[in-house]
Amino acid sequence: LRRFILIGQKAASSEDFSLDDLPGTSGRLDVLLRSVRAAMLTSHGLRPDVVVYLVLLGGARAPRTMRFDSSAVKFLRPDERALATLARKVLASRADEGGSGFASVKAGIMLARGGLDVVLADLGGAARYVLEEGAPDVRAEPDFGREDVAIFVGDHTGFSDDVRAHLDAAGARPMSIGPVRVHADDAVAIVQNELDRREAREHARARVDD
Ligand SMILES: C[S@@+](CC[C@H](N)C(=O)[O-])C[C@H]1O[C@@H](n2cnc3c(N)ncnc32)[C@H](O)[C@@H]1O
Repeated sequence: LRRFILIGQKAASSEDFSLDDLPGTSGRLDVLLRSVRAAMLTSHGLRPDVVVYLVLLGGARAPRTMRFDSSAVKFLRPDERALATLARKVLASRADEGGSGFASVKAGIMLARGGLDVVLADLGGAARYVLEEGAPDVRAEPDFGREDVAIFVGDHTGFSDDVRAHLDAAGARPMSIGPVRVHADDAVAIVQNELDRREAREHARARVDD
């Protein structure tokens, strides 16, 4: 299983944003939604083994976390407006009120009160990484992807000091995906590509060993 956690420092935690000006009214939820596409969708397909968490730290209802599970989600479209429409419907739900942990809102999509803590409690034994420019390169990590991974990605402003300290305490290992700082959704696509290559190499090796 591949898990991606996007931390939206000002991303809207309620449905109060405009589809006609997503970047200007949603605390850059658009960055996070493009990352959902990059993590879950291939050209004409849905990956079977991805969970994405959007940690929404902006607006009156924050903190709140949306969880997308590709094995159960239906009708996920790649265009940003369709994803924003979906996110607005999910955020209009009050299924998470009063409860603890994730509550189901739509097929494969859940919502929880809380931020990083609810995500960390949901990760199981996945190896934790935090994407950070200047950290050791993913290509120097021979074991990356051999087990389930949970990868933390910052938004357009990176991580706050608080979140970064929390991730350190949670055992997330810093990792870079190359020398150039890219957009969050591109960082997710690069990680997916790296994991795809490693998985393909493993399969090829297994075929030779058979
Ligand atoms: C647009 S970048 C953040 C830029 C922000 N202004 C900063 O200084 O951190 C969004 C996120 O993508 C990830 N990222 C982008 N380029 C990366 C790289 N070369 N190596 C590792 N992570 C990267 C990081 O998690 C980063 O927080």
